[in-house]
Amino acid sequence: MDKDNSGYIDLDSRAEKMLRKGEFLGRGHNGIVYLLPNKKIIKIFKDKKVCNKEYDILKKTENSKYFPKTYAHGPYYIVRSYVGGERLDKYIKKRGFNKEIAHNIIKLIKEFKRLEFKKLDIRCKDLYIGKQFSLRVIDPKNNYSEEVIYPRHLMKGLNKLGVLDEFLSAVNDECPEAYKLWNFRMKQYLDKGIK
Ligand SMILES: Nc1ncnc2c1ncn2[C@@H]1O[C@H](COP(=O)(O)OP(=O)(O)O)[C@@H](O)[C@H]1O
Ligand SMILES: [Mg+2]
Repeated sequence: MDKDNSGYIDLDSRAEKMLRKGEFLGRGHNGIVYLLPNKKIIKIFKDKKVCNKEYDILKKTENSKYFPKTYAHGPYYIVRSYVGGERLDKYIKKRGFNKEIAHNIIKLIKEFKRLEFKKLDIRCKDLYIGKQFSLRVIDPKNNYSEEVIYPRHLMKGLNKLGVLDEFLSAVNDECPEAYKLWNFRMKQYLDKGIK
């Protein structure tokens, strides 16, 4: 990869070329995502700082099966693996919740600890569920910068879907220590708004 100006123009034209074959997949607050051939996607960012931050996280999580692999990046884009399956919140709304999903969420938070995340949290809409209830993250944010010691957003989403008690009961069976903290903090948050 060239580091001079022409190198950057080159990279941009590379991204442009990829985009011509791309098919619109989705749009978020920070970017727009296109499906590419070979089960890859390209995410184009509005802000290069956000692009860089997201790339840094994806580099640190590259040996984890829960995160997309990266293949190329430029100041304003990242090429990464396509994540199939369905958005977790939509899936639960349609098909309900079960112990396997609960178990895989607990495993995911353990993985966040292994990856030394400061933020042990993720939103339901950034999780995709695939075969055998496997979970994958699509849009990691601030995982190494923001301190969140329990999966508040995630449980807030589960609460909205009416499955929080079922989830917490699975956490209690599997991981009583985590249950104590998560249950206590979540009740405090839902009752009094204390984060
Ligand atoms: N790796 C991926 N695999 C499949 N779809 C994706 C992937 N990444 C993003 N998308 C789709 O693109 C949308 C926007 O991407 P996202 O990373 O959430 O952008 P933002 O950071 O702007 O929120 C998502 O809601 C999803 O529909
Ligand atoms: Mg998003």
